[in-house]
Amino acid sequence: MAFFYHYLLIFTLCFLYVESTDPSAQLCNENSNTTTTQLTTNIDSLLPKLVQTTSQLGYAATSFGYGRTQVFGLAQCRGDVSRQDCSSCIQEAANEIQKMCPNRVDARIWYEYCFLRYNTENFIGQLDTGYGTFYYNVQNVTDPETFNEGLGALMYRISSLAAVAGSNGLGKGETKLTPFLTLYGLVQCTRDLSELACRQCLAIAIGNLPTYCDNKKGCRVIYSSCYVRYELYPFFFPLDSKAALESSSMTNYRSVITKP
Ligand SMILES: *[C@@H]1O[C@H](CO)[C@@H](O)[C@H](O)[C@H]1NC(C)=O
Ligand SMILES: *[C@@H]1O[C@H](CO)[C@@H](O)[C@H](O)[C@H]1NC(C)=O
Repeated sequence: MAFFYHYLLIFTLCFLYVESTDPSAQLCNENSNTTTTQLTTNIDSLLPKLVQTTSQLGYAATSFGYGRTQVFGLAQCRGDVSRQDCSSCIQEAANEIQKMCPNRVDARIWYEYCFLRYNTENFIGQLDTGYGTFYYNVQNVTDPETFNEGLGALMYRISSLAAVAGSNGLGKGETKLTPFLTLYGLVQCTRDLSELACRQCLAIAIGNLPTYCDNKKGCRVIYSSCYVRYELYPFFFPLDSKAALESSSMTNYRSVITKP
């Protein structure tokens, strides 16, 4: 019995270690005002509200406080992740964002499974592609023509899925490039966006693929209003364990940050 508990403990520790990943991107806006005590208090009150609602619904857009110290917040999980993964991701995001950005009122943090943002300016419903992070696989595809044709068609199809009502901003799918090679894609808009704004955000992200990810085997575009990712291996849920192992290796990826 003692052996069993020991084993269980080791298993749990490994699991926690794997779960706590670094943020994919973060922004602590240097130009946003230094917080006052009242603002800090309001941010402290806003974060648990965001965590609680997002853990239940996968998304939250709300505010706390009044007048000049009102703080607006938005949080959202990637639409295909489990409720449990969503909940632990958003909890970690809320903890990290305060550590990372103690004196600013415009803060944003992105993980693979979730995104959290707050600001004293009301950004809810506004299309925002000002700050971007592009992660690309340094490896090139072997047949760019077939690849880009397949990529374009897949992105068009899943963007349309993401923009329609009832999709919660999520579009995902796959396409066979050759009998042996499948391309997987996932796009997502924040749920506060209108259908038109979602389409625009994804069009901007996809339009920038040739600039930052031309002929690359994998790429991620991270904006405040939308997310685009494609890979030559399955990475979205439901997922088989072999694929999960492969996708966890990020050693081949590099990033580029774009600013307004
Ligand atoms: C932030 O700075 C701007 C310009 O200096 C000012 O108008 C605004 O009231 C400030 N906001 C807060 C919440 O202090
Ligand atoms: C991929 O292609 C680019 C542009 O042709 C080239 O500069 C780069 O070295 C290639 N990368 C690899 C890993 O072969």
